[in-house]
Amino acid sequence: MELEHGAKVWMDGALVDYAAAHVHILSHTLHYGVGVFEGIRAYPTPNGPAIFRLTEHLRRLQTSSRVYHLPIPYTLEEMTRAVIETQAVSGVLPSYIRPVIYRGEPGLGVKNTHGKVSLAIGIIAASKYLGEASETGVRAKISPFRKPRSDGLPSFAKANGNYLNGYIAGVDAQTDGYDEAILLDTNGYVAEGTGENVFLVRDGVVYTPGPPSEILLGVTRDSVLRIAKDLGLECVERLISVNELLTADEVFFSGTYAEIAPVREVGRHQIGDGKTGPITREIAARYMRVVHGEDPNYGEWLTPVPAAGKLAPPVARTRR
Ligand SMILES: Cc1ncc(COP(=O)(O)O)c(C=O)c1O
Repeated sequence: MELEHGAKVWMDGALVDYAAAHVHILSHTLHYGVGVFEGIRAYPTPNGPAIFRLTEHLRRLQTSSRVYHLPIPYTLEEMTRAVIETQAVSGVLPSYIRPVIYRGEPGLGVKNTHGKVSLAIGIIAASKYLGEASETGVRAKISPFRKPRSDGLPSFAKANGNYLNGYIAGVDAQTDGYDEAILLDTNGYVAEGTGENVFLVRDGVVYTPGPPSEILLGVTRDSVLRIAKDLGLECVERLISVNELLTADEVFFSGTYAEIAPVREVGRHQIGDGKTGPITREIAARYMRVVHGEDPNYGEWLTPVPAAGKLAPPVARTRR
């Protein structure tokens, strides 16, 4: 299947044709997985295209890059403008925006801290990450592959290499006929999906794994907690056992690409009555209104994207 994508890729300040956006085969990131990235969405809104929670994503990119000794050669303002510019010229909406920080060549040698660090920003047309299951309910498998402990592989960093774990768990679940995997940590507590955080609802209270769970602190997770609190719901962040998950009234995933996706089965266990629960439905409906700019109470989460010809002049693009 050919993916619809943005016309250009932003590479260290230049907008390069999609087909010409290459990196060297001896790039450090390609060999050792030492890179960090973000996944961001832009949506149509009544005021034109807007990027959802751009600053929070770019701040997490900065945090992730610090963990892996990848000094980003651009400021937050420069990266913000670069993402807006790439979206403006992309020609796709709704879109999924992928900034990636990688170390190029000379790249061989694990402890490499001298290869050039670069930023690239690619864009694809966004679709439903979990396909039809996003609407009808996801069938998730409790993965036999556990999340590594954060004292070995920090889960709070959105690092390329972390996705080896998500990949092996996700393909295992898919091969078994499930839509997605739910990974447990090494102590058997619920961690997250391969690209989503996990929530459950019991007796009207919303629960989600919180630190010290081995999770990525999702931007969507944060949005869900705020929306749920605004809806008057009690929210609890703590360790979650498999038993609690299997006997929950409702379970749902949250993620930038997955948005809010109801889970109807975990392993062989049906969740609730197997249909999207009322609280999941209410949170998902508000989330979709918010990302589409239809709820002024969350306006600060949206960064407008002007037409390509109307962009502010570039902030200095000099490497530092
Ligand atoms: C492993 C993992 N957990 C959780 C999430 C959800 O994070 P966010 O809501 O910031 O997209 C993602 C997606 O980025 C992910 O890859």
